[in-house]
Amino acid sequence: MGKKDEVEWDDVQGIVLSGYRELKRSAYLLWRFQSDDLRRNRKWLYDLTKRLTPSQPRPSSNTQPARNLALTPSGLRRLGVDQSTLNSFSFEFLEGMAPARARGAPIPRRTNVLGDLEASSPEYWNWGGWNEDTRDIDGLLMLFAEETEIDQLIEAEMRVMADIVDDEPIVLRGQLLDEDKEHFGFKDGLSQPKIEGRPKKSKDAHSKNGKSEIKPGAEIKAGEFLLGYENERKARVTDGHDRDIRRNGTYLVFRQLEQDVPAFNTFVCDVAGKIGETDDWVAARLLGRWKNGDPLVAEKPNGSGEDAKNNFLYWYEDRAGLRCPIGAHIRRANPRDSLGPDPETAMHLSKMHRIIRRGRPYGERWEPNGANGNSDKAERGMFFIALNADIAGQFELIQHSWINNRHFNGLYTGTDPISHFPDGDGITIQNRPTNLRVDRPKPFVTVRGGAYFFLPGIQALHDIAAFA
Ligand code: HEM
Repeated sequence: MGKKDEVEWDDVQGIVLSGYRELKRSAYLLWRFQSDDLRRNRKWLYDLTKRLTPSQPRPSSNTQPARNLALTPSGLRRLGVDQSTLNSFSFEFLEGMAPARARGAPIPRRTNVLGDLEASSPEYWNWGGWNEDTRDIDGLLMLFAEETEIDQLIEAEMRVMADIVDDEPIVLRGQLLDEDKEHFGFKDGLSQPKIEGRPKKSKDAHSKNGKSEIKPGAEIKAGEFLLGYENERKARVTDGHDRDIRRNGTYLVFRQLEQDVPAFNTFVCDVAGKIGETDDWVAARLLGRWKNGDPLVAEKPNGSGEDAKNNFLYWYEDRAGLRCPIGAHIRRANPRDSLGPDPETAMHLSKMHRIIRRGRPYGERWEPNGANGNSDKAERGMFFIALNADIAGQFELIQHSWINNRHFNGLYTGTDPISHFPDGDGITIQNRPTNLRVDRPKPFVTVRGGAYFFLPGIQALHDIAAFA
């Protein structure tokens, strides 16, 4: 790796390298600047930048609160970033996740690409959608803390924002639930791309015999996740010069995905009854892992350490999908070496379509008959967060061409069982002597809000603020 490609981790915001899993609570503040008063907006940014958490060095204690900041094009503009600089950002970021729709006009292309239709249409979103009152967002301040400290942290940040924000910011609260299981009950946060050149914990750098434990091809070039570095196509999104405000930054996709847990459980139970399997067996075929995180392809831990549950491929192990159905969530979201006729090429292509996931659940856990005082209708779901250098080629490609695609990897019908994409067709579970086909009545997930952001490097934020 050349010097130019040594990642400046002290300039990269902390959420790129860490999900802050020791900090169980999080808050996402979405706001709009009150005015174009550059001086005031930049002064606030100047002070905040000093408090932001970098990827390196990690805070002396992992329980220290963390803060990271992402901005939309309008947020950058209201901090004085000029139009020609803005034009250097990608088209999809500038256009936004839910481009406005004029009355009577067809559904915008991007909304179709994402499959944000019917109940998931931006028409009904709580924020970031087509409703003019809640549509425009300038920024996202992400706060992470322990349960006893989160309220204080939110209050403190809101206080210093009071002068610069229009209305009260929207405050969304996330939390890691017991055993890191999301609302459908599956352990989450197991598979993340490994960025080449990341600071290594000594235990994942080498195995006992001194050989690398990382599978060949498992590391991914920094440029897939950070602007200014070489990516898997041997190209760079920026030319890497120091003053480019995109350097050490990445795009951040934020979506509020509501989960209908009772409907999911009822569906799983009905299917299990029909085919004579257990509920857990069916649920695992929809996701591609058992609820405890064990992958269907390699049910026994494969190796040791934190990679044990993630150390598997599909081509040689399970090309036909008899262990892990081809349409299961994790197989669509990251097909690893399984697309096309040659596993090595497939693996290389997969590396161009990875995302770092930093999402967290919101809302209380569902319990049967409202046992913990929460009704079936209580709001719960996932604040889905993905980081990538190329929204169209990474997040959008995964969502559109893999998760929402009825013909994914040779399938005839069906979309990702846990996707929001409305689809009347069934789900196929490969089996012997014949495949099982089941109908999903309606999506168990509904999009409730979303926006595309940019998560700048810390120096870039300093440079923007420095004119204050
Ligand atoms: C409410 C919605 C969702 C839920 C409950 C959910 C849940 C999960 C779970 C439990 C896993 C397995 C744990 C792991 O491998 O880390 C997983 C993996 C994954 N999900 Fe999702 N997910 C959701 C939406 C999405 C969306 C919208 C995308 C992308 C557009 C996505 C992309 C991925 C990826 C890339 C993986 C890792 C696959 C791998 O590398 O093997 N997920 N998800």
